[in-house]
Order: sequence, then structure tokens, then C-alpha cells
Amino acid sequence: MATAFEKDVRSKQWHPFKPANYRVVLQALIKYRGADVRFLEWGSATGVITIMADLLGYEAYGIELDASLVETARELAQRNQSKARFAAGSFLPTGYLWEPEGGDGRLGTIGEGTAGYDELGIDMQEFDVVFGFPWDGETDMMLDLMAKRGGTEARLLVNMTNRGIYEYRGGKRQV
Ligand SMILES: C[S@@+](CC[C@H](N)C(=O)[O-])C[C@H]1O[C@@H](n2cnc3c(N)ncnc32)[C@H](O)[C@@H]1O
Repeated sequence: MATAFEKDVRSKQWHPFKPANYRVVLQALIKYRGADVRFLEWGSATGVITIMADLLGYEAYGIELDASLVETARELAQRNQSKARFAAGSFLPTGYLWEPEGGDGRLGTIGEGTAGYDELGIDMQEFDVVFGFPWDGETDMMLDLMAKRGGTEARLLVNMTNRGIYEYRGGKRQV
């Protein structure tokens, strides 16, 4: 059955938004929840993951480039009595540049825009758990961003499609 997003948005215009497997993400979120744990979703789309994080007890935020998706996320949060907050903007902080050693710094499906952190009033390094769903080839950029701008103790949860969620801390994969 088509979801409301597929009916209302995707049927009218193409959008590079592909949802994660929410059940798998939920398990990872349960693992790290706790009092005063601040969560950030990079590219929060319709807000489902950020809202799940809020309902699990995280202080949860999402940043999404597409303002219409941010509106949808805010409505979904309201309908579910969630305090999750969303900013319309980029999860790439001001001044961040992706400069891989191989030389090809193209961002793929990751778009650019005004950084969303100012709207939230929270710096990237103040988040304890960050979640991202990169498309193929974009994981290295997310690891680089986390290493350069993330908190030293922060965890990065990367959705690897069929391989589940990979966890990184201090630039190293946790197994
Ligand atoms: C693959 S979808 C993932 C959606 C959601 N996080 C999930 O896992 O279900 C990627 C989302 O990131 C958004 N996006 C792409 N570049 C972005 C950027 N620089 N800042 C914020 N959002 C971005 C896209 O608009 C899209 O909604």
C-alpha cells in the first residue's frame, strides 16, 4: 500500500529520499538511549527516526534540506505528541569542506545549503548520537564530517542499507 508520502509527494515529483528500515534503526536507538542524551538525524526527511528517538527519551533533533519535508516532520511530531525539533537547512556546518585525499570531493546526493545548527541553537559537537543514511560512496564524507566537527565522545550511527547500522566512535567502527 502506498504511504501518504508516496501519494502526496513522490508521485508528483522525484525526491532523493529513501527511508531507512525503521525496525533496524529502532534497535540501535534503544541501545544508546538514556537521560540527557542528545540525538541528531542528518537528513531527517519526514522525521520518523527523530520522532522515534524523542519518544524513546532522547533530546532529539533533525536537520533536513527540503523545507517541505521539515513541515511534514513537524506535523508528524505534533500528531504524535513528540517534542522532536526540526531545522530546515543543511547538516553540513558552515565552513565544512569535503576534501578527500583522492581529490574527488563531490557530495553525491548530499545537497548544500545554509547550515541548520544555528536554527537549532546547538553546535554539531554538542550531540551525543548522530544518525545518517548515506547513499553509496557517501559514508566516508560522513565519517570525515564527524571526525572534524563532532563531539569527541559522540557516536555516529550509519545506516548501511542491507548491512544494518554501523556504529563509529572516535573514527573507529565499534563491533
Ligand atoms: C536517504 S534519505 C534518508 C532519510 C531518513 N534519514 C531515513 O533514514 O529514513 C536522505 C535525506 O537527506 C536529505 N539531505 C540531503 N543532503 C542534505 C543536507 N546537506 N542537509 C540536510 N539534509 C540533506 C535529503 O533531502 C533526504 O531527505
